[in-house]
Amino acid sequence: MAVKVRATRTLPGPAWAALGEVEIAPADEPGPGVGILIVTNEPVDLDLYPSLRLIANYSVGYDRIDVAGASARGIAVSNTPGVLDAATADLAIALMLAVRRGVVTGDRMIRAGEWGTHWAGPPFLGHDVSGTTLGIVGLGRIGSAVAKRAVGFDMRVVSVRAREGNLDEMLPACDVVSLHVPLGPQTRGLMTRERLALLKDGATLVNTARGEIVDEDALVAELVSGRISAGLDVFAYEPSVPSELFDLPNVVMTPHIGSGTVETREAMTRVVVDNVLAFQRGEPLLTPVLL
Ligand code: DGY
Repeated sequence: MAVKVRATRTLPGPAWAALGEVEIAPADEPGPGVGILIVTNEPVDLDLYPSLRLIANYSVGYDRIDVAGASARGIAVSNTPGVLDAATADLAIALMLAVRRGVVTGDRMIRAGEWGTHWAGPPFLGHDVSGTTLGIVGLGRIGSAVAKRAVGFDMRVVSVRAREGNLDEMLPACDVVSLHVPLGPQTRGLMTRERLALLKDGATLVNTARGEIVDEDALVAELVSGRISAGLDVFAYEPSVPSELFDLPNVVMTPHIGSGTVETREAMTRVVVDNVLAFQRGEPLLTPVLL
């Protein structure tokens, strides 16, 4: 008998059809007969799924999934690494440019009919991206893709890996700091109040990784003070965003769209589907999450 497949939503792209019958239901609805569960990094209460054998995650980050608990019950987990590096790196660069060059503020002012001054007057002065120093926190696949792009902007790229290198030494040397570590016990709260204070005046923090990597209250305080700027795609309590940020000209925000292109999301679906099909055939997963 075919293993029952449940997904928390239908995923985009032509690959999806290859799965055949898929029940669409929320992760927190009991699924006694579900053998394969497709999620988008939602938490899964394993007690609701006594027959579960595979959690196929439509996301490279699996911070909300209890991989150790799943493994203890013989449940495999897969994710979608690789296919979203370019799109996420593109967005990191877009946020750097948007914040430092006032792209969003300028757009808003034009639409509001507030472009009343000569172009050479205030408030239209931004800060350079080209030729500045970029600090990359987490030089994995996405961090490396950002580094590659930054070279094209003549940026001087410095980096620390998640667990190596001296972050405290790097931060004061950077004009832009971009976060690319996965969220886990070692990186939750990595950007503490003290570390944010190490950023130099006028520096820009870019976060396309996870909001919980940063002390969000401390970041809000720094941004409200106007000392630094930020490009934020992720937040600690999504979709809730601190309202203090709404009117700040030194912040550009996007709603967790690092992988949000048609092409990338369809490629992510392909990876999920290929993992599920491999699992159903009794073959090794293509992209297993290993403990
Ligand atoms: C990812 O793949 O981790 C993206 O952030 C979407 O969650």
